[in-house]
Amino acid sequence: MRRAAQTHLNPDSAPGPVAGCEGVWPRSPQSRYNRVVKPHSFALIGPGRLGLRLAIRMSERGWSCRAVRARRNASLPLREALPGPWVGDTWASPVRWPRVDLILVAVPDHGIREVAGRLAEGDDCHSAVVLHTSGLRTSEDLAPCHASGAAVGSWHPLQTFPALGRFPVSWEGVYCAIEGDPPAVEIGEALARELDLIPWRIQVGDKLRYHAAASVAGNLTHALVVAAKEMLASTGMEPHAAGEALKPLVRASLEAALAARGFEGLTGPLTRGDSKTIAAHLAALSPPVADAYRAIVRLVTNRNLSDKDD
Ligand SMILES: NC(=O)c1ccc[n+]([C@@H]2O[C@H](COP(=O)([O-])OP(=O)(O)OC[C@H]3O[C@@H](n4cnc5c(N)ncnc54)[C@H](OP(=O)(O)O)[C@@H]3O)[C@@H](O)[C@H]2O)c1
Repeated sequence: MRRAAQTHLNPDSAPGPVAGCEGVWPRSPQSRYNRVVKPHSFALIGPGRLGLRLAIRMSERGWSCRAVRARRNASLPLREALPGPWVGDTWASPVRWPRVDLILVAVPDHGIREVAGRLAEGDDCHSAVVLHTSGLRTSEDLAPCHASGAAVGSWHPLQTFPALGRFPVSWEGVYCAIEGDPPAVEIGEALARELDLIPWRIQVGDKLRYHAAASVAGNLTHALVVAAKEMLASTGMEPHAAGEALKPLVRASLEAALAARGFEGLTGPLTRGDSKTIAAHLAALSPPVADAYRAIVRLVTNRNLSDKDD
């Protein structure tokens, strides 16, 4: 349970510096949300797909990575991937960390609570702000760190981060959903701006719907496009050429969907009520893709019917 009496975490009390974070905590109320953050130190727990890219981006923007903790030694990033004099360790063989301003927890959602408990036990977080990067989980998952004196928050960039390597990822203009203790939110917002993200405050009770929307837009679209590419490749096209061939169609469809208010930008048999063509498609598709197709037909037709009722 959260400790309620901490003055620096009480939203009703005057904000003050988080111990060890004096360099980033604004000194006057006017500067609260607009100050420029100077380079700081941070530790990363979970150098996976997002964590590593984030640490690299932060290093490029002048933040100093001092420690990286992974589950296994084999998961620690190569020195050339992440510059800096960071200490690399695991929970099994922890090394005493240098003091840091910010601890980023970028482990899978189900591991955040456990990591928070271990951080609090190890007395590693008492002087820092601790942020986790889950879109679904809230700052409550970091309650043990809060109880140890840290300001805690969740900090989620609304972007997909595949493993480093083949897939470039853009940070500019990406929204970043943030909630938590006021000092953590403040530092999370400043960090987001430093990385060219657009900070956005989210309510704890909205995180589930927010994250489900992100998954529908990102993961489901991705899965459908991969399925379409494989079908095109099955007609004899090279897999790479299939991706290239679909690119203009996928991009134009997404642009139209993003600009539309409803389904008015949609084209194809679905919008023409062409049930014969839809039935022919369904017969040609593999069962899981046909199921997805049917579900989307229902989504569009139900919505169109209810729009007509209005
Ligand atoms: N990737 C994205 O597109 C994306 C976007 C926005 C937000 N996020 C969020 O970021 C978080 C991480 O996602 P991800 O996709 O980056 O996951 P990931 O690629 O699986 O990386 C997770 C990392 O955490 C390590 N780890 C797991 N348990 C740990 C523990 N107990 N202590 C220390 N390290 C531990 C893993 O090491 P091992 O390899 O040894 O298990 C791995 O390095 C999630 O909360 C996710 O929702 C991800």
